[in-house]
Amino acid sequence: MEQRVLTLADQDATESLARSIAAASRPGDVILLAGPLGAGKSCFARAFIRAIAADPTLDVPSPSFTLVQTYPTNPPITHADLWRLQGDTDLIELGLDFAERAIFLIEWPDRLGAAAPAMALSIALAWHGADERTALVSGPALMLDRLLPKRMVSGR
Ligand SMILES: Nc1ncnc2c1ncn2[C@@H]1O[C@H](COP(=O)(O)OP(=O)(O)OP(=O)(O)O)[C@@H](O)[C@H]1O
Ligand SMILES: [Mg+2]
Repeated sequence: MEQRVLTLADQDATESLARSIAAASRPGDVILLAGPLGAGKSCFARAFIRAIAADPTLDVPSPSFTLVQTYPTNPPITHADLWRLQGDTDLIELGLDFAERAIFLIEWPDRLGAAAPAMALSIALAWHGADERTALVSGPALMLDRLLPKRMVSGR
């Protein structure tokens, strides 16, 4: 496990990070988006999905009621918002099968408990005033090296 801290000065910075990670992502990648209400998890997911879809105006609703929303992009994306997930819900019944060759974007990943995949890029967003956020990015070194844009990382 390695970790880096990035400063995201405004929403554009969050969206730019999402697009860079999207460009380097592969089928099977799991990206866990943590942080409090309004931290920017859905903002990140929307920019990521629009980048993979190559459609900057694609409608990306928050799946807070359906819990899981899939996109027939190439590769396919599974976007989940597990805020409302109760107890020991069957993830596969929900449509969340980490064995699939999709890219997974998971908001409120703490709800996964022991079902959280070990091979994942974890992005914890935190508030710092009006528009500034920090992203604590952690995961296996190989995943960080592949997915994090070098220009956004200062030092190691
Ligand atoms: N640096 C930033 N990164 C992301 N969003 C920002 C930033 N600065 C301001 N914002 C604003 O913060 C809000 C983030 O909302 P968003 O829905 O992405 O949060 P969320 O983490 O998904 O919350 P929830 O847990 O309620 O789903 C948006 O209104 C966005 O415009
Ligand atoms: Mg959200």
